[in-house]
Formats: sequence, C-alpha cells, structure tokens
Amino acid sequence: MAHKLYIGTNTKMYKGISETCAYLSALGELTADIDRNECEIFVIPSFTTLESAYRQAQKAQVRLGGQNMGWEAAGQYTGEISPLMLREVGVEIVQIGHSERRQVFYEDDEMENRKVLCALQHGFTALLCIGETEKQKNFSLSGEVLRTQLKVGLQGVEPQDICRLWIAYEPVWAIGVNGKPAGKEYASQMHLLIRKTLEELFGRQAAKQIPILYGGSVNRQNADDLICMPDIDGLFIGRSAWDAEPFSEIIHHVLPHFQKCK
Ligand code: PGA
Repeated sequence: MAHKLYIGTNTKMYKGISETCAYLSALGELTADIDRNECEIFVIPSFTTLESAYRQAQKAQVRLGGQNMGWEAAGQYTGEISPLMLREVGVEIVQIGHSERRQVFYEDDEMENRKVLCALQHGFTALLCIGETEKQKNFSLSGEVLRTQLKVGLQGVEPQDICRLWIAYEPVWAIGVNGKPAGKEYASQMHLLIRKTLEELFGRQAAKQIPILYGGSVNRQNADDLICMPDIDGLFIGRSAWDAEPFSEIIHHVLPHFQKCK
C-alpha cells in the first residue's frame, strides 16, 4: 500500500481562468505547511485554464491534471486534446474514464484503455476512474463491473509504467449533487477487490504501489472515516473541494488520521 496520502479534485466544467488561478493560489497558501512528501495534492481544472494555471500550481506545490485526453499524438480528431498539447501546458496527470465521460459521452473500456496506454507512453500519471452504476450494484454486479473496467482499461500496461498509475474508485451512484456517499465498509470492500485484481494483473509487489483513491460525495464529515479504511490510499473530491478553505480543512484533518492508521 502507498504510504503517502493522495488527495485531489476535479473541478469539472466549472471555474474559468481567473477563478482557477485564484483558487490555486489560495490553496497553495493554506496548505503551505503540508509536507508534499507526505501528501500529494492535485487539481484537475478545465482545459482552457491549464496554461495560466500551470504557474500558480507550481507555486502552490499542487500537481496539475487534465480532465481527459485523446489517444493519438495528432490527427483528424476534431475537438480532442492530444498528449503533446497537454505536455506543452505542463500537465502531469491525466484523468481517464470519469463516470461523466462514460455515462454522458459514452466512452467505453476500450477507449479508456487506449487513453491509459497513450498517457503512460507520453510520461503522464494516468488516473483511471472506475465505478459501478446503482443498477449494477443492485444486481450484485459491482465486483464484475470493476474487474472488467480494470482488466480492459489496463490491458497492455507495461511493468515500468505502473509507478505512474493511479486508480480512483468512484461509484456512479455516489457522485454529484444527487449522489450518496458509499459507506466506509462498502468502499473498503471494493478497494480490496480492486487491489486483488491489480495483483492478478501486475503481481503483488506492483499492486501494492498503486494508489487507490475513493471518490463520490467525499466531505468533511466522512473523509476521516474513509481514509482510515484498509486499501483506501487517498480521496478524489468534487464539490467539497471547490473552495480552497474547506478543501484545505479536509486535507489538514485527513492527513493525521491517515498517518495514524496506515
Ligand atoms: P463529488 O464528485 O465529490 O461532488 O461527488 C466526485 C467526482 O465526480 O469525482
């Protein structure tokens, strides 16, 4: 298991350039006391903000991510953003397969797999998001769904790239304003299943190194409990992290809990 805490946010289709920069700058100030060797803080803002956000993120010691990426370096792919373009603006992390990409834009596991491989080949950290829908959960298919998303999504990942692979478990029913957070026991059960599947794919030692983050209605109230569960290495937060102050509060509360129980 990773012994560094991973905590970050995806700001979705909110926040333009000035808002993102102000947010990063405030977050940097509020978390200046946090040792980045102990806690990796990352922010994934919208594409149009990235060039301006880069300098702020550097100053704030926040790692910057892109919310999506095309799977070719260049070509006839209107509307897509290539790995070279993301590289140009200083992005380090690429988020792949967020449930909104899968549900609203019909991305499937094979597409996510192409993106994962392409992101890794271009030197990015690939953050693959997986999660079952409510219907799948009700049919007791969560395990099957997560295993498929991992086995297809990570097909062909080379051993030397595993150190740049992160997984976010985000049950679809837990995400967003209508979501209800997963209970800590359930989340931990799914994280264990994910870890076992990673072991199957990459071997025990390698699987241990891959951070598995929980996401879906994480907030100040449930963050401490979630982070103390086995196999939960970090938190991937939406709404509760979109203002720097409450996000910093969550980080400051979660880190000592994490250090005590891991
Ligand atoms: P939420 O979003 O924390 O607002 O539920 C999580 C996500 O979409 O990753």
